[in-house]
Amino acid sequence: MNKEFTCTIVSRRMISEDTAYLTISCPEIASSAIPGQFVNVSCSRFLKRPFGIAHTDTSNGTFDIGIKIVGDGTKELSDVSEGDTLNVLGPLGNGFDLSCADRFILVSGGTGVFPVNFAYEKLTESGKDVTLVQGFRDASQALMMREGAIITTDAGDLGIKGTCIAGLDTVDVSEGTVVCCVGPVPMMKAVGEWATGKGLRCFISMEQRMACGVGICLVCVCKIKAEEEGKPFEHVRCCKDGPVFDYKEIIL
Ligand SMILES: Cc1cc2nc3c(=O)[nH]c(=O)nc-3n(C[C@H](O)[C@H](O)[C@H](O)COP(=O)(O)OP(=O)(O)OC[C@H]3O[C@@H](n4cnc5c(N)ncnc54)[C@H](O)[C@@H]3O)c2cc1C
Ligand code: FES
Repeated sequence: MNKEFTCTIVSRRMISEDTAYLTISCPEIASSAIPGQFVNVSCSRFLKRPFGIAHTDTSNGTFDIGIKIVGDGTKELSDVSEGDTLNVLGPLGNGFDLSCADRFILVSGGTGVFPVNFAYEKLTESGKDVTLVQGFRDASQALMMREGAIITTDAGDLGIKGTCIAGLDTVDVSEGTVVCCVGPVPMMKAVGEWATGKGLRCFISMEQRMACGVGICLVCVCKIKAEEEGKPFEHVRCCKDGPVFDYKEIIL
């Protein structure tokens, strides 16, 4: 299947001082993407830049991405205007298996708020029981907050003071609940350990540096525990074999 599209920007708005939110027309991506998948977007720099899909609208044939400006590529892509076109490869990666349980706890940190938003929408649409924990550094970094979500800030100027673990500690857990988390590695490690301590399965999504996005260049490899006895680990490609991995398999 051809996964590369020339897509038109339907809308672009700044949702914080350093973060743009784009709605992009592409019926093929809108109708086939699942939460946890990403798109690789061309800019004038050498490599495409990966972004998690934040929302899809199949009736309009659009999908959304949020772009936090951290360098030249994200600066350029956040500066696009309505009607501009972008070359987009996607949807890429495996995504979350949201059929594996009836109850989920979703946890986001940093730009993980975008893919987690998509997962939250799909789970609530399907009537599943979902608790959302959104962790931010401080109130100025808070984005895409959903009604009913447990909000935490390191600075304590919004929601519960502390990391998302302080938020998770307020949640009643029941057997069979699955935890899905996207954020910085130290945060995903802490959430993975929290879930393991409660006897819950946890899936995390790796935002590794990427190049091709389709499993060819091996820029994005990370390690998972090896199945073969005596072998300490195996390499996997985050873009193709992930970005979603079972916390108990990945080596962080
Ligand atoms: C699967 C995946 C999903 C992502 N989803 C989103 C998203 O929804 N929204 C969003 O804003 N960003 C997301 N990112 C990160 C985004 O791709 C990078 O911030 C972007 O490629 C940086 O490009 P740049 O040219 O602006 O910065 P560069 O000049 O390439 O780098 C600037 C700084 O950003 C850091 N950086 C670059 N790439 C990454 C990365 N992959 N992870 C962490 N730090 C990085 C560099 O180390 C450097 O410090 C995602 C990354 C991956 C792999
Ligand atoms: S980015 Fe090329 S193999 Fe993953």
